[in-house]
Formats: sequence, C-alpha cells, structure tokens
Amino acid sequence: MKGIILAGGAGSRLYPLTLVASKQLQPVYDKPMIYHPLTTLIEGGICEICLISTPHDLPRFQQLLGDGSRMGISIEYREQAKPEGIAQAFLIAESFIGDDAVSLILGDNIFYGNNGFDEAFAEFTSGATVFGYHVHDPERYGVVEFDAAGKAISIEEKPKQPKSHFAVPGLYIYDNEVVTIAKNLKPSARGELEITAVNVEYLKRGQLRVEKLSRGFAWLDAGTSSSLHEASAYVQTIESRTGIKIGCPEEAAFRSGFLNISELEAIAESMPNCEYRAYLEEVVKEANRTQ
Ligand code: G1P
Repeated sequence: MKGIILAGGAGSRLYPLTLVASKQLQPVYDKPMIYHPLTTLIEGGICEICLISTPHDLPRFQQLLGDGSRMGISIEYREQAKPEGIAQAFLIAESFIGDDAVSLILGDNIFYGNNGFDEAFAEFTSGATVFGYHVHDPERYGVVEFDAAGKAISIEEKPKQPKSHFAVPGLYIYDNEVVTIAKNLKPSARGELEITAVNVEYLKRGQLRVEKLSRGFAWLDAGTSSSLHEASAYVQTIESRTGIKIGCPEEAAFRSGFLNISELEAIAESMPNCEYRAYLEEVVKEANRTQ
C-alpha cells in the first residue's frame, strides 16, 4: 500500500506563526508536527510515501525529510498549486499511486494510543476504511451516523445539525478505485473536491467500513494556537512519564522492519548531540539487550 500525506493550506488560524513556516512544520513539543502523520503511516507498514504541499512550503519539507532514506523509507513530493480540496490529492498523486491501494493522512492530524489502525491496515483488501471518533464539536468535521447495529448509514461534511458525535479523522484507506472516484467528483459549494464526497460514494456502493476508535485513543487537533499548545502539553506529559516518544519516524521504521539496528544506530550517530539522538541511542541499546 502507498501513503499520501497532505500538508497544504495557508494555516491562517495560526498566523503569524505560519508566515514563514507552514502549520505542519510547527513544533508539537519536541518535533515538527509532520512527524506524527509520517509515523502513523510507517507504523501501518507503509514505506512508499508521497508528500503534497503548496509550491511555497514544499522546499521546506524536502529540506526536513529528504528522500526518506534517512528513515528507511522513500518520499516523493508533489505540489498542490491551489487549495482545491483533500480529494484532489488522488489526482495530484495519480502516477505515484499507480495500481496500488492508498492511505491518505492529513499533515495536521495527531494520533496516539493503543493503535486502533494496526488491524485496519493489515486486513485491508478492497473498498474503503475510515474511522469514527467521539468529539464534543462534530460540526467542525465530517460526521458519520450509525444505525442501531453499528453500521454507518450517512456521512456529512461539517453539518450544522450533526446526526452523531462521531467525527471522521484525517486518515483514510482506499483501494485503487479512489482515483476514478476523485476524477468524477464535482467541486462543493466551497469550491473543493471533498473527501467526504469520496466516502459517500463508497458508502453508496456498500464498500465503506467505518471503525470506531476506542475511548483510550487520542486524536488531537493542532490547528489553533491553543490546540497546538494543548497537543504539545499532551505529548510532553506522555513522553516524560513513559520515556517513550510519540511520533518518532526513525523508531517506527525500525519497529516496522524498514531499518535494522545498525542502520538505526548510524542514523542516531549522524545527529547532533540532543535529546532526540539520546532517545534513539536508548532504543538501540534496549533492542540489543532484548535480542
Ligand atoms: C477535513 C475534512 C473532514 C475531516 C477533517 C479531519 O476538514 O474535510 O471531513 O473530518 O479534515 O481533520 P478540514 O481540515 O478541511 O476542516
């Protein structure tokens, strides 16, 4: 399966932070935000990734992540010239997707917890898999309605009167049909190719699975100054309590088998002396001890 990270948008709600660096490059405690969705894809066993951003911001991402080889993966880059919707990612990345299935993750979505995604990635064969997460303000998101048997029966984008409290987070898994579906979409009232319209099409075809994410799972938003601060505080709290980093792509690549111990060690050694390097060295030490 291929992976796409969409890191577009003007980040206007974070102005003036985003005057120079895009939202997805802002620090969430000790790492750039983009490390989180990148880690989620790697944990899902995906090592071929396409990052889509604006022509203005793309060079910064290339500077940060290179061709991915430093993390045992490959990263290609594509431009989204104008913010014309999340589903446009499938048109921009058509040649990258080729004949494969694809998972799309939004560059500002931060997930943490007993990984609700593992099975979804491992068991995916066809159709579409999306998730449902209980939030207090569903009107800000795509909202999924379930029937009494727990089957998804409707999905609406930012409804004024939401039919449930279940929002659809920005991680989507699709078969190759998604490219054709995206090609046939018409722009919505706000002039965008909506990801919700893609999900509605799969629902109509009877090919949409919606997995509810459990209560213990965290899906964090970092789109405003206060939610960015809260996400940082959350990451800091968990990391200092457990000694385990959240959103560390090198560690995820090692655990997913994309890097071996000596490669991980060499990557750590190439870093300046810092807490991040010390953490990776500790991961190497522990792995050597338990081997
Ligand atoms: C987008 C999607 C929405 C989804 C959300 C997740 O919203 O349109 O369906 O629930 O991402 O972060 P937007 O970021 O455009 O507000």
